[in-house]
Amino acid sequence: MLKNLVFQNRAHVFFGSASAFQSRRHSFCKTMSSTNPDPTHGIDTPMEPIETKPPVPRSVMVSRLREITGAQPMDTAWEQLWKEGITPWDAQGVTPAITTLLKQNKLREGKVLVPGCGSGYDVVAMASPTRRVTGLDISKTALEQAQLFAEKSPNAEFIEFQNADFFSFAPPSKFDLVFDYTFFCALEPSLREQWAEKMAELLALDGELITLMFPLDEHDGGPPYSVSLEAYENVLRPHGFHLTSCDAEIPSVESRKGMEKLARWERAISKA
Ligand SMILES: C[S@@+](CC[C@H](N)C(=O)[O-])C[C@H]1O[C@@H](n2cnc3c(N)ncnc32)[C@H](O)[C@@H]1O
Repeated sequence: MLKNLVFQNRAHVFFGSASAFQSRRHSFCKTMSSTNPDPTHGIDTPMEPIETKPPVPRSVMVSRLREITGAQPMDTAWEQLWKEGITPWDAQGVTPAITTLLKQNKLREGKVLVPGCGSGYDVVAMASPTRRVTGLDISKTALEQAQLFAEKSPNAEFIEFQNADFFSFAPPSKFDLVFDYTFFCALEPSLREQWAEKMAELLALDGELITLMFPLDEHDGGPPYSVSLEAYENVLRPHGFHLTSCDAEIPSVESRKGMEKLARWERAISKA
């Protein structure tokens, strides 16, 4: 019972921002419906009622997410979640740590991959004439949303989306940088070894893996599943990755503060 309660609190952290967004959307709709744009004040033309939806309670989101991911294979489960709008992880904007790394010029250029990119905010933020970014997601619906967002970017030509399963993704060439945020924690822990193996396969030998580790806590079940630096190290080390930095002093969205760290990984290249 107690464990359940703790988990619900942690899930709240994961879902906080989306619920806040829904509330914002709700109040936006209310404002729209009470402001009459018609100069006749609607005397002659009755206004169409604007549908307002109350925010979905967090507990409902959590149980629906668990229900779907627990009952279906990965591909159909995530697609179903996106179709139903059960996307509580979606922070509605660029990951603050990415904004900071870009400002500080601390992100590699070249070919970049964002696995499990969802709405694609980070894909769009990172893309530039010197950084071609691929957003990968198993959900077609997620990528349709991401594509719409990316089309508005002045760097749209440096962005591509791939609708594929990360574990069978076979791009024509390797990546210089992979950025993982809320993808590792979305995967069933038994897949973590395969996740690391695939990272090693997708990255150029001198490439870099950046993992924004979240949620650094201890709770049962998922997604999101609890993560720890050790959990990443355990699966990455056998593939030659070593930690080059681990930073807790990173900006986070309010509800995730204190629960994430930015870890950077590289492989030792043989000089022989
Ligand atoms: C928790 S969401 C995170 C989305 C995004 N990174 C964010 O922070 O908003 C996990 C994403 O990974 C995608 N996903 C799950 N399993 C996948 C797989 N095997 N291959 C590719 N994408 C996958 C889901 O569709 C979902 O969009």
